[in-house]
Amino acid sequence: MSAMRSGTRDLHERIEQRIRPAEALGDIDSYRRLLERYAAYYRCFEEIVRRDRFIVREFGSERLEKSKWLRNDLRELNEAVPVVGDQRSSAEELTLPDFPTRSHLIGGMYVLEGATLGGQVLLRRYGPPRGLPEGAAVRFFEGYRDATGMMWQAFSQTACRLVEAEAEIAAAVDSARATFSSFGDWVVPNQLVTQQ
Ligand code: HEM
Repeated sequence: MSAMRSGTRDLHERIEQRIRPAEALGDIDSYRRLLERYAAYYRCFEEIVRRDRFIVREFGSERLEKSKWLRNDLRELNEAVPVVGDQRSSAEELTLPDFPTRSHLIGGMYVLEGATLGGQVLLRRYGPPRGLPEGAAVRFFEGYRDATGMMWQAFSQTACRLVEAEAEIAAAVDSARATFSSFGDWVVPNQLVTQQ
């Protein structure tokens, strides 16, 4: 697990800068957009994970609820503050990295599971955006709430048990890097990245 952390630290920093949470959680429309992008990515990724019954059994199916949380958050947000005008985004294609082996898949899970760790920090620091009813549309960023630390520990233990050999660890790190990059590109497309 420390190989995953050290092998992706630069990309975690980059994704934080790219998402610019102060702005992304700063107003309703940016937050709506962020939730939409997250929801699409998590839905596709969870579909891939769900195909591997062994992985679902080992890690627990409760880890595959996040796209549902995101959909519910979006519904609550749209009910509280309906979309004004036509804000449809152009039809872009979402392509996830390939996950040819279980080690690759676990590398991807590391990234999307790890995102629950920063959520509460983010909410405390920047959000939720003003204009939302108390507690609405923040389920995803609450992660596993009080169980977040415990869920992460359990994830790490299972990941370590299943990804052991050197070549497997290398595959998981490669895949985690590819997932960080593809997630960052999807959530904040290049044309929206401006120099800071
Ligand atoms: C946008 C702003 C973000 C902030 C402020 C943030 C913050 C954090 C914090 C504080 C931790 C450490 C938590 C702890 O050790 O208890 C963490 C860990 C982590 N975050 Fe983020 N995060 C952000 C975005 C993301 C995103 C978008 C992803 C993935 C898509 C991500 C993936 C991870 C992973 C994999 C870890 C675990 C690292 C490890 O211990 O191995 N983070 N984040």
